[in-house]
Amino acid sequence: MHIAMIAGSNRQNATSTSVLRYIETILKARNIPVSFIDLRVVQLPLYSPDSEVVPPEADLLITAVKQADGLILATPEYHGSLSGSLKNALDYLDNSHVAGKPVLPVSSAGGPLGISSLIHLQGIIRNLHGILCPEWVSIGDGQPVFDRDGVPQDMEIIQRIDQAVEQFIGLVRKLGDGSKQPVKELMES
Ligand SMILES: Cc1cc2nc3c(=O)[nH]c(=O)nc-3n(C[C@H](O)[C@H](O)[C@H](O)COP(=O)(O)O)c2cc1C
Repeated sequence: MHIAMIAGSNRQNATSTSVLRYIETILKARNIPVSFIDLRVVQLPLYSPDSEVVPPEADLLITAVKQADGLILATPEYHGSLSGSLKNALDYLDNSHVAGKPVLPVSSAGGPLGISSLIHLQGIIRNLHGILCPEWVSIGDGQPVFDRDGVPQDMEIIQRIDQAVEQFIGLVRKLGDGSKQPVKELMES
């Protein structure tokens, strides 16, 4: 099993990125290999369908997603939607990279919950033929989930994240290699 994680905030010390880093520790503790793409660090050029050359940063992203059995996408809630950084990254992808793979969305909002960004992400995942994890993670009110050293501050939220990750791993296992083929066959029939 291999998981690709994309952190969609262009902000230092972003809540959504810290949640992804926490999930990364859970996956690594279970010996699950992870590709972590932080879009604040891997700055992708604005996607253009006219471009004939894939930029190296985008190549890194596409390769990580192609090789993954499941994806975890994190975004801040911006104007009732996902961040431009994450949307731009997702525009580099197509169905062949994502089809049949479970996707766990994560959001962070200034308001009580970041549901709009999660719902917009859901539409994009569906268009890429990914499989939306029944659980998702939303951190609201700019809640301090971790301190600056990454130590959890709110055990209730941590428990919810743990449950969502547990369900996501279960889904990736169920759909892993053996069952990916039938999904492809179904799409071709
Ligand atoms: C351009 C912009 C638009 C925002 N729009 C919303 C919004 O529509 N709803 C909301 O609850 N918070 C909104 N916020 C607040 C962010 O969602 C909040 O600061 C969030 O914690 C940022 O996530 P991050 O720490 O992962 O970058 C906005 C912030 C910015 C900079």
